Amino acid sequence: MYPSGEWEASAVPTAAARQVLDLYLPLQLRADLVIAQAGQSLDGRIATPAGHSHYVTGPADIRRLHRLRALVDAVVVGAGTVAADNPRLTVREVEGPNPVRVVIDPRGRLDASSAVFRDGAAPTIAVRSGGTAAAAACAARAPDDGPTIGGGLPAGQRRAGNEPSACEVVAIPAAPTGELAPRDILRALRERGHRRLLIEGGGVTVSRFLDARVVDRLHVAVAPLVIGSGPAAFALAPIRTLDEALRPACRIFRLGADVLFDLDLAQARGRPGGRVGSLAGTAGISGAETTGSRTEGEPADPGDRR
Ligand SMILES: NC(=O)c1ccc[n+]([C@@H]2O[C@H](COP(=O)([O-])OP(=O)(O)OC[C@H]3O[C@@H](n4cnc5c(N)ncnc54)[C@H](OP(=O)(O)O)[C@@H]3O)[C@@H](O)[C@H]2O)c1
Repeated sequence: MYPSGEWEASAVPTAAARQVLDLYLPLQLRADLVIAQAGQSLDGRIATPAGHSHYVTGPADIRRLHRLRALVDAVVVGAGTVAADNPRLTVREVEGPNPVRVVIDPRGRLDASSAVFRDGAAPTIAVRSGGTAAAAACAARAPDDGPTIGGGLPAGQRRAGNEPSACEVVAIPAAPTGELAPRDILRALRERGHRRLLIEGGGVTVSRFLDARVVDRLHVAVAPLVIGSGPAAFALAPIRTLDEALRPACRIFRLGADVLFDLDLAQARGRPGGRVGSLAGTAGISGAETTGSRTEGEPADPGDRR
């Protein structure tokens, strides 16, 4: 692989292998990476008003999501997603290590029964507003046999498999609005050695990171369905003219019935190293992804892919 993101292989890769390399190799170029994602309907929804989101996009896109998890140090979600989905945020549809789970829960509204705090599949960090009061609240709610508080891994280490879970509370000063600055969250995670981050959702969380201009890459998978109501993938600060809209370099990939837009926001910001280069797939729609540890079709556990 070249610094531009272009790559060569000693053997001729299949079309499916080529697409995997085209899509994921650029993500390996950066030691520090913030990638955000959304799986949305044609009308830009990520769930119904009742919070039902299983599943907006199809199996090939769910594998993309699990691959992203396997390629990062930590996956970040908002309290709304944990409350609605009780996700595990682990890697199950492809091979790879589980990332550290990070839940932004400024008011501490989630209780310790959520899977990420109990299942032991990987460490979990709860990002709260304020200081010791928040940490004390988390500790008070932890069951005796549940997660340990303040037991995060040393900086730079990752945990995979079924080792014991740890719930570390990270307190961040909040703005008067109650908002935690995404840059402060990133700083706190990087201080703990988590430099490659996936902002998985939901829409509120991803939008705050986008508004803060800290996202390097954005994956938007669009599924051919219309939900018609429910939370939007993005709700950004208002702009006046389309000149102010995000219009980054874009690569397009076909994932089963879904279409993935792979947007290079780092390049749009003029960040050094943001350019990905002239990769295959840049000019048109690449073929359906069919590789991975499972073949095309329903995942092994269709009841719980998130
Ligand atoms: N299709 C997909 O790709 C996808 C992915 C993930 C989730 N989802 C769906 O999305 C829905 C939830 O999305 P959502 O947008 O409503 O919620 P969300 O983004 O999951 O969570 C939003 C909440 O997280 C907290 N939060 C996040 N960032 C914050 C910040 N910078 N500062 C302070 N607080 C912050 C706030 O908690 P408080 O409310 O406590 O203040 C905020 O209201 C669910 O139905 C889920 O199924 C879909």
